[in-house]
Amino acid sequence: MTTDKKVLLLIGSPKGENSTSASLGNYLISKLEEFGMKTEKAFIHRLVYREEKIQNLFRMIDNADLIILTFPLYVDSLPAPVIKAMELIKEEKDKLKSQKSQNFIAICNSGFPEPSQSTVALQICRIFSKDCGFVWKGGVALGGGAAINGTPLQEKGGMVRNVIKGLDIIAHALKEGKDIPQAAIDLFSKKFIPSAIYKTFGNLGWKLQARRYGAKKKLKDKPYSL
Ligand SMILES: Cc1cc2nc3c(=O)[nH]c(=O)nc-3n(C[C@H](O)[C@H](O)[C@H](O)COP(=O)(O)O)c2cc1C
Repeated sequence: MTTDKKVLLLIGSPKGENSTSASLGNYLISKLEEFGMKTEKAFIHRLVYREEKIQNLFRMIDNADLIILTFPLYVDSLPAPVIKAMELIKEEKDKLKSQKSQNFIAICNSGFPEPSQSTVALQICRIFSKDCGFVWKGGVALGGGAAINGTPLQEKGGMVRNVIKGLDIIAHALKEGKDIPQAAIDLFSKKFIPSAIYKTFGNLGWKLQARRYGAKKKLKDKPYSL
């Protein structure tokens, strides 16, 4: 892929710029910009509910040579606005003017520490990509995404060094129009925080939130159980 190609970053987290999805996507497009590629960024949840915004989404898709979807894992799948966007894009794809070859990759981050949690979601992305006629260049998964929580990767220090190394390799591969190499998938998904520490802070975080919302005694409620 030559450097005059256009890249579209689609951020699928409803948390917008304060999300881990954005941290990962922003870093990747910053690398692609260094190679001279032109990038555009959009937040999916702002683009799927009003007709003029939907048209805007179609225009951006039509314009892109490479589409990067970055999203959080929700209930082993994708957030509702991302699924909605996929349905809209699939429906529209046949009508879109573009006949050019368009590459597609997906980056999923999950709350649970195991990257394998995202396997089904990435398969959904691969099938979506195929159904739309995009060229699937691969998907990567990161566990323990809450430990990044919207902070720019460059500010997270050594903890995310393998995530950064993985994204650097991905950027090089995409610049060349190649598939994401296995080495990048492995580095990117390498556990970057010990599970015990992650779970301790995760549990503490839930308790603090519960206290803030006056729900401290409700944490073990099961309102839908029979
Ligand atoms: C509604 C909802 C459903 C979620 N479902 C899962 C899940 O099935 N598995 C998981 O590992 N994390 C799950 N999470 C946690 C998010 O994937 C995790 O916090 C992620 O790092 C958020 O990324 P973001 O900052 O890009 O939004 C869920 C979070 C929410 C709000």
